[in-house]
Amino acid sequence: MAGLSRLFQRITTPFRHKKQVPTVNTSAQPTAETTKMPSAKPLSTGPVGFGLMGMTWRANQTPDEQAFAAMKAAVTNGATFWSTADFYGTSDPTAGLGLVRRYFEKYPADASKVTLFVKGCADPKSLYPTNNRAGVRTSVDNCLRALGGAKKIDVFGPTRQDPSVPLEETVGELKRLVEEGKIGGIGMSEVGAETTKKAHAIYPLSLIEVEFSLWSTEILTNGVAATAKSLNIPIVAYSPLGRGFLTGQLKSVKDIPEGDIRLYFDRFQPENFDKNLELVDKLKAFAQKAGVTPAQLALAWVLSNSNSGECGTIVPIPGATTAQRVEENTKQVKLSSSQKAELDAILNSVPISGGRYNPQLEMTLWG
Ligand SMILES: NC(=O)c1ccc[n+]([C@@H]2O[C@H](COP(=O)([O-])OP(=O)(O)OC[C@H]3O[C@@H](n4cnc5c(N)ncnc54)[C@H](OP(=O)(O)O)[C@@H]3O)[C@@H](O)[C@H]2O)c1
Repeated sequence: MAGLSRLFQRITTPFRHKKQVPTVNTSAQPTAETTKMPSAKPLSTGPVGFGLMGMTWRANQTPDEQAFAAMKAAVTNGATFWSTADFYGTSDPTAGLGLVRRYFEKYPADASKVTLFVKGCADPKSLYPTNNRAGVRTSVDNCLRALGGAKKIDVFGPTRQDPSVPLEETVGELKRLVEEGKIGGIGMSEVGAETTKKAHAIYPLSLIEVEFSLWSTEILTNGVAATAKSLNIPIVAYSPLGRGFLTGQLKSVKDIPEGDIRLYFDRFQPENFDKNLELVDKLKAFAQKAGVTPAQLALAWVLSNSNSGECGTIVPIPGATTAQRVEENTKQVKLSSSQKAELDAILNSVPISGGRYNPQLEMTLWG
């Protein structure tokens, strides 16, 4: 685990620059400027997707048997959009992709059911972006090697933007990789509205992956949701359970294991953690009244924003390491408009203490 702690210490220096479930078929449609361009392939998934980070980017890796059961539960319950990265491993950065490979080697019939998004273009030691032409290509080739042909890369994209590399170079190379058949489409992670527009004009984006949850609502006001909607780009909502905080399972910072990445983030510092529990307490009471779990409530709120108001399609991707949690998270829970309004009022009444990451990493967000 020392490895992950060291990594997060390093990256705090600034960057250089089969139940039947309803299926969400999302497809980025060409805009006026992009009508002559190919449109992105649709993502096919139930309303909730699945984040694989926690299985391998932690002090303790999830044993295959347990991980496979969770992954199988995701497929069975329609959570067939999966998000991973080429650095989601502690001692071996490719551990996340290795897990995906082993799963699909065991269950080859599931490969065509899952839409796999892989984030890459990050130096595995420092996580600095490697978004230049050679970096993009090397990252894709490494991912394909790690997946060993067991699963294709349906969508690929850089983890963060690199201000020192023109977007045209990054997306231009990704476009070539689509044309060569090495990746199925292009997705961007932690992007702002302007980059989304610019990238989409170079090649239609299949998705953008940004943080969105009951305690991270920025996309509703910073133009990201509105831009994605106007371009018909699906939003993949990452950390929709607030990295576990919104589930009510964490009572104190002491509940977070040593070396866990959350310990490097502002909201999980003791002075902020305790203040933020006020929101969790209110959510727990609300969930109890509604007869759902806090995790289900958090996901239902994210979904209540999908195709509503400022927002186009939003697919939350909760991470979970057990089949039981995947089943809980994929259970359909719908908020009534009065419940949504009540929850929004709670959010407005409780200020969140601390940023999503930390001051150094914040400058890499909304790039
Ligand atoms: N693009 C980016 O920069 C970026 C950044 C962060 C994350 N992501 C993506 O988003 C995905 C999800 O984010 P995340 O894992 O950070 O946070 P999250 O989904 O908000 O929360 C995951 C945490 O909640 C716990 N949990 C899940 N379901 C639960 C339930 N029903 N009851 C109680 N606890 C529950 C998990 O526990 P266990 O895992 O122990 O079961 C884990 O600790 C990641 O896998 C990754 O793919 C992307």
